[in-house]
Amino acid sequence: MHNEDHASIFFHSGNKNKISEASQALNRFHAKVRPFDELQQDVVVIEPQMDEFEAIVKSKLNQVLSQTNPDLKDNWVMVEDSGLVIDELGGFPGPYSSYVYASIGVEGIIRLMTGASTRSARYISSLAVWNGNEVHQFTETCEGKISLEPAGENGFGYDPIFIPRDGDGQTFSQMKSNQKNEISHRSKALYSMANTLLLPSI
Ligand code: IMP
Repeated sequence: MHNEDHASIFFHSGNKNKISEASQALNRFHAKVRPFDELQQDVVVIEPQMDEFEAIVKSKLNQVLSQTNPDLKDNWVMVEDSGLVIDELGGFPGPYSSYVYASIGVEGIIRLMTGASTRSARYISSLAVWNGNEVHQFTETCEGKISLEPAGENGFGYDPIFIPRDGDGQTFSQMKSNQKNEISHRSKALYSMANTLLLPSI
């Protein structure tokens, strides 16, 4: 790939929100985020049960790459693993965020937080990127706290109960998507990746 070309980054994710957030975040760089499905590869990824986001995402990328046709190995491939870490709950739900969200939802988290002495929490986003040559990893966090009750309609997952420290007191769900994207864990990880592997286009 030549630097002046737009890199296509094939993002392996079942979560459409993640794909649109990544597209928005990388808009200003020489990069176009495309769903991995466009490569039409039959890839089955088993999410490993591990405690570390970096290890999970590395395993997921290795699984994707090992099942991808070698002729396509010049393409960039990206995998992300993320989650919410709540101090009062000893880091729960952490790497189990998606399962916990599906089982008890944001209301369940609010119930678990009844009487909590601290509501501090952070989102973590860990990326593994194959740039046609080697694997690079980037992990970033977004500090914040758990709200007393859900608020807002935007975003996904735990966004109705997460108030970022660098925001204006609203939950991520109350913000517009570009406001979330300025400060989110996912954008920060994508910016780290872009600053290391891509040229800014402005
Ligand atoms: P996974 O990375 O696909 O394992 O899923 C991570 C889970 O963490 C998501 O399903 C959400 O429940 C939660 N999560 C991660 N990032 C965000 C975010 O930006 N907003 C809301 N929830 C998130």
